[in-house]
Amino acid sequence: GKVAVLFGGTSAEREVSLNSGSRVLAALQGQGIDAYAFDPAEQPLDALKGYDRAFIALHGRHGEDGTIQGALEVMHIPYTGSGVLASALAMDKFRTKLMWQAAGLPIPEYALLNAASDFAEIEEELGLPLFVKPAREGSSIGVTKVKAPGELKAAYAEAARHDPLVIAEKGVMGGEYTVGIVGDQVLPIIKIEPATDWYDYEAKYKRDDTRYLCPCGLPQAQEMQIRAEALEAFRMLDGRGWGRVDFLMDEDGKHYFLEVNTAPGMTDHSLVPMGARAAGMDYAALVRRVLELAAN
Ligand code: DAL
Ligand code: MG
Repeated sequence: GKVAVLFGGTSAEREVSLNSGSRVLAALQGQGIDAYAFDPAEQPLDALKGYDRAFIALHGRHGEDGTIQGALEVMHIPYTGSGVLASALAMDKFRTKLMWQAAGLPIPEYALLNAASDFAEIEEELGLPLFVKPAREGSSIGVTKVKAPGELKAAYAEAARHDPLVIAEKGVMGGEYTVGIVGDQVLPIIKIEPATDWYDYEAKYKRDDTRYLCPCGLPQAQEMQIRAEALEAFRMLDGRGWGRVDFLMDEDGKHYFLEVNTAPGMTDHSLVPMGARAAGMDYAALVRRVLELAAN
């Protein structure tokens, strides 16, 4: 049947989605699948009625947050990735933390910020550096690394431009890692080494000097332990189909889960395709597998 590849959209991650979706579309068409581009920014969702399945390559709001998933549920069109609940929870870094805290999974120390927060006290309590994030954004949009005392307030104001819900998170500085999940399969862990100060939007998509290590260099037993826990973290949010769990390591080799991406990037700089390749699954096989897992 006909497959709609949903990409573009109206979120701040539109550019990233255009890149992800055009590659997904080409990979599906290249395998003889009857796939078409569908940009919700340009077409009424009603037009989805003519399709048998949807591949969601949208990122961020109205694409990765349960809203489009809800529309597809109501239309009885099977779609890739997580359902409404997991999408909504994973889009919200604060609620994700609450769920993981309840499950006893390790997360970095954090605080919610608002305009009346005692910024000096929070800098003191969490220590520096710390990261300030809009709770419901992606691709590091609106995120600031606070390195010096007194910088937190401006970082809060920047994040609040993107979302009224703002989180300050302790800087966990032993390395950044990620792990993809496809069906029941947890992909090999990737270590990310930005050439610049931290893994921001530029380092994610614009620069060619970010290093990606896979194998990631962790001892095998620890890698397997973290992979199992990442699957638990994904399932704790009711994740389905595929996704990517990001985590940090402190200098003592203890890991802390950061977030789940329920519609992970599929660009040529993206991580799930790298992990899949390391597991012997090329880009074409990956998109086919994700599509096979589509559900409603
Ligand atoms: N939010 C971006 C697309 C990612 O996680 O890959
Ligand atoms: Mg994200």
